[in-house]
Amino acid sequence: MWMDHLARYVSEPPPFNLLDLGSGTGRFSKLIADRFNCQVTGIEPSDKMREIAEKTMVDPNIRFLPGDSGHIPASDGAFSYAWLSMVIHHVQNTDECAAELSRVLASNGLIFIRNAFKSSLGNICMYQYFPRALEIDSQRLPDVSYLVNVFDKHGFSLVAHDILDQTIDKCFDDHIERLRKRGISTLELLTDEEFAQGITNMEKAGRQMDQTKPVYEKIDFLVFRSNRQ
Ligand SMILES: C[S@@+](CC[C@H](N)C(=O)[O-])C[C@H]1O[C@@H](n2cnc3c(N)ncnc32)[C@H](O)[C@@H]1O
Repeated sequence: MWMDHLARYVSEPPPFNLLDLGSGTGRFSKLIADRFNCQVTGIEPSDKMREIAEKTMVDPNIRFLPGDSGHIPASDGAFSYAWLSMVIHHVQNTDECAAELSRVLASNGLIFIRNAFKSSLGNICMYQYFPRALEIDSQRLPDVSYLVNVFDKHGFSLVAHDILDQTIDKCFDDHIERLRKRGISTLELLTDEEFAQGITNMEKAGRQMDQTKPVYEKIDFLVFRSNRQ
């Protein structure tokens, strides 16, 4: 679904260079390289994440390098596109990130930001059961208007704000099992008691749920264009 959506904005024929900033285990680096036959550079500060990506996403069109939003090891104008999936809320200095993206993107380059934002948290299922997680994310997730202002200062215009319905689990029981693994950074920030209570809340709600129905979340997708000619 995300690759079909990305294809609406990617107009350059291959081979082009795409930056996957905060590439994590490289799941999107691989999807993007396969779909667009382009050269993907994944920049990832965590050695552990990068090692997993290097082992599991072996592909001559992909390389993973250490770096972060303030230090992207690439020359000026190196990339036609930048992809940031679930990363922008980890970035401490958004101003520095926008400046660095402005440096490494070619003229008219596009930035794709796939994320949840402060204004859209009501669309995310888990917060009904983990009220403290909602409080935490309301504080740490940015507002779209804040990002628009910061990126504007560095020569980017917002050209699209799409909201996509993403199937995240086949049924509610699968959703509970996934959250039980506590792999979402917000859940790690809860106390063990808050986390256990949230799982109990879900199990209780799950007894009334139709288990043939998938669980959806609405995810925001922002596209910024560099105004530099
Ligand atoms: C939720 S994961 C998302 C990984 C991947 N983009 C995905 O969607 O599967 C967030 C990633 O951002 C990385 N990260 C954290 N701070 C960062 C920064 N300032 N610049 C770049 N990446 C950062 C983390 O190490 C982590 O791998």
